[in-house]
Amino acid sequence: MKKRLGLLTSGGDCGGLNAVIRAVTRHAVFTYGWEVLGVRDGTIGLLSRPPDVEPLDPEKLDAAMMRLGGTILGTTNKRDPFSFAIADGSVVDRSAEVIEGYHALSLDALIGIGGDGSFAILRRLARQGGIPFVGIPKTIDNDVRGTETSIGHDTAVWVATEALDRLQPTAASHDRVMVLEVMGRDAGHIAIAAGIAGGADIVLIPEIPYRLERVAAHIDTLRRQGRNFALVIAAESVKSPEGHAVYRHHPGGGKSYGGVGAVLADAIARLTGAETRVTVLGHVQRGGQPTPWDRLLASAFGVAAVDLVAAGRFDRMVAWQNRRVIDVPLEEATSGPHLVDPQGPHVRTARGLGICFGDG
Ligand code: F6P
Repeated sequence: MKKRLGLLTSGGDCGGLNAVIRAVTRHAVFTYGWEVLGVRDGTIGLLSRPPDVEPLDPEKLDAAMMRLGGTILGTTNKRDPFSFAIADGSVVDRSAEVIEGYHALSLDALIGIGGDGSFAILRRLARQGGIPFVGIPKTIDNDVRGTETSIGHDTAVWVATEALDRLQPTAASHDRVMVLEVMGRDAGHIAIAAGIAGGADIVLIPEIPYRLERVAAHIDTLRRQGRNFALVIAAESVKSPEGHAVYRHHPGGGKSYGGVGAVLADAIARLTGAETRVTVLGHVQRGGQPTPWDRLLASAFGVAAVDLVAAGRFDRMVAWQNRRVIDVPLEEATSGPHLVDPQGPHVRTARGLGICFGDG
């Protein structure tokens, strides 16, 4: 029977989303003969009347899609339909409208590409509205449980590594301590991976509390060893030396992490007398061309998610474990963030290389 599949992207964008859209559509249409409707702007598209969707044509989703950053479907990381902010500032539950929008399209199943926050919402909608749902994990932060890695993380690590590569020569030319602030809302996966790959001297992640004196002592040790510069990489969610989260407050309301790099750079300058500079990578980590690995992972996840729908296996998420695609219960993926293990392989590798976490 010809099925009709809904496909949406939800949460912050990242490298590889268009490659997944391509893979889902091609496999669903070419292998199974189904139809795929792309839903615009995540669940927002299902709130519109009529629902805001576009039929996805596999012939148009050529290899150029793999090179394209962002998501052609649009996305949102704000508008939770269970607590939807309206113009007067109050919050209403619009979940029933989203469910109604889904059913109005006569869809047989919905595939959502998202992170743990999006999955929590989409799973709740699916259970409440009888929606057969399959999830595909994406997030530059790599904090989704049940999968070793998610689409977009590798691209972000690549960008952050390249930033360190570019900061090193200018740091060495000017005898400076360079602080690079990278994204990572709950977890320090980007900071530690790029820190190792890009040759950082100091890696600060939320999972390992640091003391500024330790950071300063490490910089002094490097100096005594003849080094005239240092590279520090810090996840945005690392606390200030006084123990506060550092946020940027948006004029329209809401806040997001941002600014701890500058706080750290100033504090390091005061304590060591070094000249410091700060670079905040921000959304540069999310855009641009996806790495080959993100394209491959996106393609593998997209194909596997369509196969799950074909097999009638729902409330599951495709995942990468032990060099292959498997699937896990969505409940596992939404059971809290997957953090950097302070005793895990990356931390052991970093410590083995002499990288300082500012602890101990
Ligand atoms: O979760 C992905 C992420 O990029 C985080 O690393 C970051 O804190 C957040 O999204 C930024 O969100 P926004 O796009 O709303 O600025």
